[in-house]
Amino acid sequence: MSKTTPISEFLSKNRIIVDTYLEKHLPKEKEFAGQLVQSMRYSLFAGGKRIRPAMAMASFNVCGGQGEDIFFATSALEMLHTFSLIHDDLPCMDDDDFRRGKPTNHKKFDEATAVLAGDALCILAFQLLAKTNNAQCIQVMARALGTEGMIGGQMEDIQAEGQKADLKRVQFIHTHKTAALIEASLVIGALLADADDETIAILSAYGQKIGLAFQVVDDILDLEQTTEELGKDAGSDELKNKATYPAVLGMQKSKDCAQELKAQAIQKLEPLSGDTTILKELADFIVNRVN
Ligand code: IPE
Ligand code: IPE
Ligand code: MG
Ligand code: MG
Ligand code: MG
Repeated sequence: MSKTTPISEFLSKNRIIVDTYLEKHLPKEKEFAGQLVQSMRYSLFAGGKRIRPAMAMASFNVCGGQGEDIFFATSALEMLHTFSLIHDDLPCMDDDDFRRGKPTNHKKFDEATAVLAGDALCILAFQLLAKTNNAQCIQVMARALGTEGMIGGQMEDIQAEGQKADLKRVQFIHTHKTAALIEASLVIGALLADADDETIAILSAYGQKIGLAFQVVDDILDLEQTTEELGKDAGSDELKNKATYPAVLGMQKSKDCAQELKAQAIQKLEPLSGDTTILKELADFIVNRVN
């Protein structure tokens, strides 16, 4: 029997709530274009860890947030993350066959459907976020995803393929393609809880550190785990000569770096007055996870 820790309990309760709202916020299948909703649902409910919604909830809770608007944000975050994964797996990007333990969206359906499902998830996410009537949230999310965030990072990731990367370049890639959205999850949780600027800045700093650690660990797992354990194609980075932390620093230094980033992330939380237990344990979970 698996051990129940406060963090595993938090994550599993969170998953149920997040999935309930995702279900509520998704469009129903219509007579026409039905495959679009089918493919959106396919990837959304394939079994992700729901880390970004968990980050937003933990931030919202530590700031004493109240009300249900946060669930527009958690749905939006998971939809945006899933959109990024569907497009990341396409043949023109990482060309991967498995995701969340199942064939990738374009393998299950086709490329056109995968492109459209990603687009539709992205658009729906912003529609939901707008329901919070919080323009700052929309701005933070857009920035985290656009040229200065995820998409900028993905561009550099693709351009760096097959080239010799240095630490500065891989740092740029990882902070943009992955850390930006994780940081935004924390900031949005705090914004929806009406937190003050100082608190938002602390959670943002924690998010930058743990977001970078998240991608360093993703690189490590790509080399150390099997496809079965990961639920996605292991060894995919080496195959495409990706700019990763292990490729630049070696395995041991990458592991040390992930631990160091975790410690720095936790340290950033020190000035907060609320109960930071879950945020600390989330940091630990991110660095010690196996998939
Ligand atoms: C994978 O993210 C993509 C990266 C940004 C590294 P996750 O590891 O959170 O993927 P899921 O949501 O659990 O499938
Ligand atoms: C993806 O990084 C980051 C995204 C914005 C989707 P990876 O390409 O390393 O993610 P995985 O390993 O395929 O999940
Ligand atoms: Mg990629
Ligand atoms: Mg990939
Ligand atoms: Mg990866």
